[in-house]
Amino acid sequence: MKQETIIIDVNESMDNESSTLREMIKKDRVIAFPTETVYGLGGNAYSDEAVKRIFQVKQRPADNPLIVHIHCMEQLNEFTEHIHPDAYRLMKRYWPGPITFIVPIKQGMLSHYVTAGLNTVGVRMPNHDFALQFLRIVDTPIAAPSANMSGRPSPTKFSHIEYDLYGRADVLIRGDDSIVGVESTVVDTTVVPFEIVRPGHITAADIMRETGIEVIYESTTSTTPKSPGMKYRHYAPKQPVYPFKEDFHPKGHVGVIAPAELIKSWNNVVTFELCESVIDVNIAMRNLYKALRFMDAQQVDTVYIYQFPRQERYNALNNRIDKVISSKEEDL
Ligand code: TXA
Ligand code: MG
Repeated sequence: MKQETIIIDVNESMDNESSTLREMIKKDRVIAFPTETVYGLGGNAYSDEAVKRIFQVKQRPADNPLIVHIHCMEQLNEFTEHIHPDAYRLMKRYWPGPITFIVPIKQGMLSHYVTAGLNTVGVRMPNHDFALQFLRIVDTPIAAPSANMSGRPSPTKFSHIEYDLYGRADVLIRGDDSIVGVESTVVDTTVVPFEIVRPGHITAADIMRETGIEVIYESTTSTTPKSPGMKYRHYAPKQPVYPFKEDFHPKGHVGVIAPAELIKSWNNVVTFELCESVIDVNIAMRNLYKALRFMDAQQVDTVYIYQFPRQERYNALNNRIDKVISSKEEDL
């Protein structure tokens, strides 16, 4: 596919771009935009054509549902119903923010391609100035997966979406690097107790401490993933990836992704420092996808990546890192 792509540079306000953005969304075009978690690839959530185009542009499997992005609570009520009162409490506490809530849909509103046929939908109000301006300007719910080509690491820099989507998407909005750096926490509020189906920056312990609401998370590598997207091997660089152990001795031409305190001055090793120390969890999250894309572009044969301690605050990181590690089967 070959597509003319418009790049939009925003200076403080998107007012000058508002007619272009509105027109594009009305014509079922797709727009990559920055958010605090990762860049998203958005289209009108009410339009089959727009949503089909999102799947086509990023070559995403059709059984993997999309998150719908909103800028105000009125929008939520257009396409959802029967939301649990505790879910509203969590929305009030955490939106706008890096957390998605799965709620029941109101029939006949969203394109059924958004939900991949499920009767629930993931909804998020992002905490990002450009994202909120964009959502306000187009004033329709925007379905948006992460703006990477399917199978590649999620984009946390403008150059990442330019690399993946220039010549494929219709519009790319240039923003700063994503501050959170991993995708939102996804909480299923259609089961009691609520359940985290994808870990992110906000943890179950944060929610319990700040609201008293119990949310469970099972970090097992179960064969029936809770969120359809979790079954795919994601985020991976082109090389085979193995766990980095502290007794690491380099053999051949390899790359290492780890906290700086664990990196030694090996010969012939390409290194990427995720953060200073193992305890810098927020910085490590911010840098993880940059590290994976950096290694993908290196001429190394193998990549070794550090797995963080199995403690709750590292769940989001370990969840992504575990998934880039090559299984024996894939190496055959
Ligand atoms: O931070 C984010 O959430 C980013 C930004 C752009 O907002 N978006 C994002 O979207 O990561 P995506 O499509 O890459 O991931 C959506 C995840 C997938 O794992 C999908 O399976 C899950 O949410 N999901 C969506 N709707 C669901 C539903 N109704 N039930 C269970 N899981 C759902
Ligand atoms: Mg994604």
